[in-house]
Formats: sequence, C-alpha cells, structure tokens
Amino acid sequence: MAKSSGKIRIVYACSECGSSYPKWSGQCGSCGDWNTLSEEIEGPRDALKAPPPPTNRPGPVLIGNVGTEAGQPRPTQIDELDRVLGGGIVPGAVMLLGGEPGIGKSTLLLQLLASWDGPTLYVSAEESAQQVRLRAERLDAVRPQLWLHAETSLPHILESIEETKPELVVIDSIQTVFDPSLGSLPGSVGQVRGCAQRLVNVAKERDIAIVLVGHVTKDGGLAGPRVLEHVVDTVLQFEGDKHHALRLLRASKHRFGPTNELGIFEMAGVGLIGVPDPSTMFLSDRRTGIAGSAVVPTMEGQRPIVVEVQALTSPGVPGVPSRRSALGLDGPRLSMLMAVLGRRARLPVAENDVYASTAGGVKLVEPGLDLGVCLAVVSALRNQPMPADVAVFGEVGLGGELRQVGQAARRLTEAARLGFSRVVVPANSPDGDGAIRVIRAKTLSEAIAAVGLNGEG
Ligand code: TYD
Ligand code: MG
Repeated sequence: MAKSSGKIRIVYACSECGSSYPKWSGQCGSCGDWNTLSEEIEGPRDALKAPPPPTNRPGPVLIGNVGTEAGQPRPTQIDELDRVLGGGIVPGAVMLLGGEPGIGKSTLLLQLLASWDGPTLYVSAEESAQQVRLRAERLDAVRPQLWLHAETSLPHILESIEETKPELVVIDSIQTVFDPSLGSLPGSVGQVRGCAQRLVNVAKERDIAIVLVGHVTKDGGLAGPRVLEHVVDTVLQFEGDKHHALRLLRASKHRFGPTNELGIFEMAGVGLIGVPDPSTMFLSDRRTGIAGSAVVPTMEGQRPIVVEVQALTSPGVPGVPSRRSALGLDGPRLSMLMAVLGRRARLPVAENDVYASTAGGVKLVEPGLDLGVCLAVVSALRNQPMPADVAVFGEVGLGGELRQVGQAARRLTEAARLGFSRVVVPANSPDGDGAIRVIRAKTLSEAIAAVGLNGEG
C-alpha cells in the first residue's frame, strides 16, 4: 500500500484488525467494524522493518531428531496459574495477560516474579518504582533476584534485559511502551504491534519468558489490534467483579496446552490467594429451602466445581415480549431452554420474565448446566424448593430429552464429597463409584417429576 518508501506519511489504522488505509472512513473495509480507524504516522519503511534475524538460526531438521527436553513448562509455585498454563511457564514463551483496570493483573504478576526461583525483571511502564515497591512490600515480594525498572521506552527496556539477564520478564503494560524508531504515536496500533513484535523476537532469541500486560476495552476485548493475539503464544484473561474478591483466570489461546482450565483466586489484603476448593466456596452462602435454586456439579477443564444456579420468575407485561436475563450463564442458551420448557414440559414460561444466574457470578458455559437451569426455573415458577440433598446435571435437547455430558463419574464424586445424597442425571449417563444415589431421567418432564416439582407431590 505504501508508495513513498523513505518518507513519513499519515495512514488510518483499524484498532481492531490492524489494517491501514490512506483515507479515513467510518467502517473498516477489512474487518467491517465501525469507528475503529484512527490517524497514525507511519515512519520510514526501514524503521518499520523487523530487526535482522539472529545469525544462529537453525535450518530444517527431521522431526524425529527434534529434542523434546526444551519447551517443558517450569512450575511457577502459583498453583492456580500452573493449572491454567498446563504445568507452568515455558522458556521463550510470550504471554499476554488481559483484564480490566484494577482487577489485579499487576498484583498477580508481581507475585509470580517474586515466587520465581531465578533472576526476573518487572518493567513498570505505568507506575513509579516507589509505587511498585510499596505494593511489593504488601505482597511480601521484595526478593533479592527481582529487578525493577520504571521505563516506557523500548530501547531502554531492551538494554535492561541485556543487563539483568532475567529468565522471566513482565511488561506492565504493552500499551504504554513506546519505541521512538517506529514513528507513530505512543499507544497507537503501530506502536503496540511493533513493540510486541520486538519483544517476541527477544524472547525467542534468548529463551526468556515474557508476560505482556494488556488493557481491555469496556466490551471486554483486548485494546489494541487483534494482531497482538497472533504474535504471542498464550492469551490469558483475568476476570471478576471489582467489588467482589473472586478472580478467574482463563486461557483463550495456549500453544503449549489446553485452554479449558480455570484458575480461581481470591483478592485478599496480602494479594491473590488461590482457591483450591472452589465448590465449598461457591456453596458457602447457599440457603436451603428456597424456591428457584438448583445445585449442579459442573466441569471446568479437569476440575469438577459444584455451583448453585438461581432463578427468579415474574409475570410479564401482556403484549410485551417477556424478558430473559442471564448472569454468568449463556443468554441465548437460556432463551432456548425456556422455549423447551414451554413446549415440551408445558410450563407457562412464555408469559413470565425469567432471570437466571450462577451464585457468586462465576461465568460458566457448559451444557451440563442445562438441567439445573431448567429445574431452578420450574422451582421458581411453582414457588416450591428443590429437595436440599439433590444435585442435577445433564444437557437438555430441543425435544426435551436429556443428553449425557462428559466426566459423569467425577461430577458424582464431587457431589458426594460435598454431602449431597442424590443426583438426577440423563438416562444414559455412566455410573459413578456408588458413593451417591443416581436417579435417571429420560426427559425434562421425568426429571421435574423425580425432584417432586410436577405439582403433584
Ligand atoms: P492491580 O494489581 O493494581 O490491578 P491492575 O494491574 O489489573 O490494574 O490491583 C488493584 C486492586 O487490587 C486495588 O483496587 C487494590 C487491590 N489489592 C488488594 O485488595 N490486595 C492487595 O494485596 C493488592 C496489592 C491490591
Ligand atoms: Mg496494573
């Protein structure tokens, strides 16, 4: 697209996909998003070029001759982080940690560096060294091998990497780092992309693991171009409600392992503390004998978590489409389940507004929750509580049939561990180890009857 190669020129770059255009327009022609083009100065072509590749580059190798020792994850001592990363941090890996301001990204990463057994470097591009030191005192993170550099200029950051020879580096945040040779303005798409690419090159050349902190926009996406997600090996998301202590860590991309594991932390006065037994925590506020509640053993990756699903119904306004509101649950799925309840179980859901949520606000999307959502709504509609010792799980099909879901045995064991004595499951679901009574149901209506919510008990 560039005609002039030696001159500085102005282009309009899309903050979503990174495409650039010579003229401004309301919509990006490449990704189709609106109002995402902003003015950028593009420097001389030479400055934009990637740095020369390292000289010791390996040539092609036969696949059988490739060593497997390198690339092994090294545990971080933070169990919940290791769980999400599939064992730990791989040398040379570049990770992007996204999350809203104030959620605890800096806290988590400072704790990570402090617990790492080896030299580490924390680059603070947002806060002063004093601010970071004060936080470190609170976190008991003042360690002899932890270097701190309050700096925003990329060349200086690269120098300090050279000087301190760290094994693990945190850049907090990538949006505030600036490379003067790139020409474009600090915080712009070109800067974020260019700086990230240089850091990725350094990580690969020197086998240093780097964590980049990224801010997220109000709609939850990572600010800056999506191309950032392509240049890193791992994209982690740190979520939670700032007003509550619960924090959830997930990987949306991970080149070295699965992406379905959930890390759970609690923000305390001394930093983030892992929650090894989330089921007990999620059920701790549960009150039994209340209509509109169902308990579901769900699976998050390899870990079973028992959660309470709550529902509330209220008569809608005649002539106005009834409301469906989901908190922590998938909205479209809730609408579908309500349609199934109306048609297949002949319940008056169409005339009612339905609110459903997971207690504690933890975000879960798993088909095993379906039956729990439906029974919580039926319980709310009938104003009749479910028996307190019953847990349920299973997927609900459009025909009102119950379908089995994965890891049934682990769900049953977890429900038994938490003191439940009966579990309603889909008819074809595999058996557990006998520690808990299993009640099988073929359809939603059978499950409703099995827990005594059919209005006849
Ligand atoms: P921070 O790590 O600065 O968030 P981010 O880097 O994602 O913007 O965390 C900020 C919040 O965490 C702040 O509101 C104070 C709170 N906090 C604690 O509750 N306990 C602690 O030990 C620390 C360090 C912070
Ligand atoms: Mg921060």
